[in-house]
Amino acid sequence: MAGSSELVGQKIKVEGWVRTKRGSKNVFFIALNDGSIIHHLQVVVDIEKFDENLMKNITTGSCISVTGALVASAGQGQSVEIIAEDIILYGTADADTYPLQKKGHTMDFLRSNAHLRMRTNTFGSVFRIRHALAFAIHKFYNDRGFFWLHTPIITASDCEGAGSMFNVTAFDILNPPKTETGSIDYTKDFFGKPTYLTVSGQLEGELGALALGLIYTFGPTFRAENSNTSRHLSEFWMNEPEMAFYDINDNMDLAEEFLQYLLKYVLDNCKDDIEFLNKMYDNTLIERLKTVSETKFERLSYTQAVDILIQSGQAFEFPVSWGIDLQSEHERYLVEKHFKKPVILTNYPKDIKAFYMKQNEDGKTVRAMDVLFPTIGEIIGGSQREEDYDKLYQRIKEMHMDEKTLWWYLDTRKFGTAPHSGFGLGFERLMLFVTGMANIRDVIAFPRAPLSADF
Ligand code: 4AD
Ligand code: MG
Repeated sequence: MAGSSELVGQKIKVEGWVRTKRGSKNVFFIALNDGSIIHHLQVVVDIEKFDENLMKNITTGSCISVTGALVASAGQGQSVEIIAEDIILYGTADADTYPLQKKGHTMDFLRSNAHLRMRTNTFGSVFRIRHALAFAIHKFYNDRGFFWLHTPIITASDCEGAGSMFNVTAFDILNPPKTETGSIDYTKDFFGKPTYLTVSGQLEGELGALALGLIYTFGPTFRAENSNTSRHLSEFWMNEPEMAFYDINDNMDLAEEFLQYLLKYVLDNCKDDIEFLNKMYDNTLIERLKTVSETKFERLSYTQAVDILIQSGQAFEFPVSWGIDLQSEHERYLVEKHFKKPVILTNYPKDIKAFYMKQNEDGKTVRAMDVLFPTIGEIIGGSQREEDYDKLYQRIKEMHMDEKTLWWYLDTRKFGTAPHSGFGLGFERLMLFVTGMANIRDVIAFPRAPLSADF
């Protein structure tokens, strides 16, 4: 419902939901929105010309179709308006029970009305931006010769080795078949083995990269960790490019170019929505998006970062020493206080990273890279991959992983192995950064989190 001024003078038909209705005895002004843009179209209704009941039933939240002439508006706040000649009421919204009566609901309230919240200005903006970002991701890769690989959602392997996976079974869980020793007999389950919802498409993505060269995955991933934070979801979307013949530096270059491209894309293509969010939620949003899209990221090793944190004299909740997994407070100190720009950390201790990362000569670190963003912390995690069969196999053993579920992955290192790298972008973390929203549950339409799977 873009307020197309080129249509002025023409008779048009519009359909949408009533945001507000105000007016006098003779005339109503209806703010109508069809979800396509943040701005409403003003409908001018000469009350006398319409049925009294119809007028009564057009309330906030109801859905109508209006036919009439589009004219230049005399009033303030809009350049055009439609003079109603014919109105059809598609659906009423009872003023006593429609939850989105007034403005200024809390985010909590809107979360508990996730089935309707997309009809608000805020969530309209958020989900239009979400679409634009997803589109931009595909465009970025397509323009660079990457192929979108559809990796499976049901898997038998644990990519990250963290063991926080949701089981997938067709068993009656109260009465699963048992083996003679009394454990669950998965050979009788649907797939003949234990299966899970995937935590990452990376392992299959690597198979694609070692055949097609440049690929990416983009889809939902699932983690059964009990992390009740504003930055964790149990179901989130991840985008994972995987590139044959890329080393860790190529990987960092791509990640930086990619993130900056996405920020610029949104600044250029979602102006009205970003301006709205900047005005309503975070008046430094646009400035931050611009700065990050133009500033070179700082690159340093985990070891250097730990030194900076130790020397900072800051009283962190989690004390810092070499070998710890950095917490969000540490990441944000580096990004927001120390460097004041995004940071890419590399060469992490191997004991805090996944089995597939390329091992460094020092025997202690792996060629990992995490991209850390202001206000967010880790937005991307990735690495160069271990391409040497023996080293990879040994690491799988050391980490007590079940190599039988990974035989196909190991085969890539047996047959035409190649140096390669990739990373995973947490799509909702990027959404948080781009929209300025404070809670990750507000940037996905139907959030799944511990004890929360309504709608
Ligand atoms: O760092 P992670 O666990 O890396 C991987 O899964 C690799 N397989 C990626 C790869 O190399 N192809 O996850 C990648 C990103 C994180 O940096 C974070 O942005 C996001 O995914 N992420 C989450 N986002 C929301 N909720 C969660 N529970 C998340 N866990 C990770
Ligand atoms: Mg990570």
